[in-house]
Amino acid sequence: MNRKDLLYEGKAKRLFITDDVNSLVQVFKDELTAFHGTKRGRFDGKGAICNAVSTYLFQYLETYHVATHFVKKLSDNEMQIRRLEMIPIEVVVRNVATASLAKTYDLEEGSTLKYPIIEYRLKSDRLGDPMINEHHAYAMGYATPEEMKMISRIASKVNAIMKSFFDRRGLMLVDFKLEFGKQDRNILIADEISPDTCRVWDRKTNKKMDKDRFRYDMGKVDKAYRELLGRIVSAA
Ligand SMILES: Nc1ncnc2c1ncn2[C@@H]1O[C@H](COP(=O)(O)OP(=O)(O)OP(=O)(O)O)[C@@H](O)[C@H]1O
Ligand SMILES: [Mg+2]
Repeated sequence: MNRKDLLYEGKAKRLFITDDVNSLVQVFKDELTAFHGTKRGRFDGKGAICNAVSTYLFQYLETYHVATHFVKKLSDNEMQIRRLEMIPIEVVVRNVATASLAKTYDLEEGSTLKYPIIEYRLKSDRLGDPMINEHHAYAMGYATPEEMKMISRIASKVNAIMKSFFDRRGLMLVDFKLEFGKQDRNILIADEISPDTCRVWDRKTNKKMDKDRFRYDMGKVDKAYRELLGRIVSAA
C-alpha cells in the first residue's frame, strides 16, 4: 500500500489517498490549534504522541468489539485507516463538568456529573461548531434516526470502556470527542482519540494532561502529553 496524493489537509492531520481505494493514510502533524483554529502552536513529537495514543486506544476498543477506522500504524506519525463517508458531527461525552458546560449551566468546574452527557456539535469552524440534537441531525440530513441511535450507543460504550481504562492508570476521563463515519451500512469511529481530543486529569492531583494546557497557557504541554502516553501504554 503506497501513499499518493493529498486528499485533505486539516489543522492537526493530513489525509492521503493510497493505491488501495478503501484505505487512507492519516498523518499526524506537530501543530496544535484551539478555539476553532484561532490559537496556534506546535511542539516536536506531538504528532507521534497523538498517533501512538490513538493507535493504542483504537486497538484496545477493537478488543471490546467497537469498530474503528484503524487498520495499522505505519510509522511514528502515520496510520493506515479505512476510508469512510464522514458524518459531520462531533460527539462529545462528558463525565465531569468543565469549560462550556460548567459555564452555560453554572456548574462547579470539576464536579462529577450524576450521569454522562452526550452532546452533538455540527462540525463547522465557520459556524463555531454549533450544538445540535438528534432532531437537527435528521432534519438537516446529516444522519438518520437509526444512525444517531447507533452513534449514541457506541459513544456510551466507549465511555464505559475508556473510563475504567483510565481509572486503572490513576487518571480521570473528564470528557472526550468522537467522530464517526460510514462504510456500507456500518458506523465506525474515525479521526483520532488522543490528548488533543480528550480531557484527562490525574486522579490524585487533578493535574491536566491534555490540550487544555495549551488552550489556557498552563505550560509543560509536551511533558504532559508524553507522560500521558507513558501511563496509557504501561501495563494495566
Ligand atoms: N476514516 C476517515 N475517512 C475519511 N475522513 C476522515 C476519516 N477519519 C477522519 N477523517 C477526517 O479527516 C480530517 C482530519 O483532519 P483534522 O482533524 O486535522 O481536520 P479538521 O477536523 O478539519 O480540523 P480540526 O480537527 O482541527 O477542527 C477531518 O476532517 C476528519 O473528519
Ligand atoms: Mg479534526
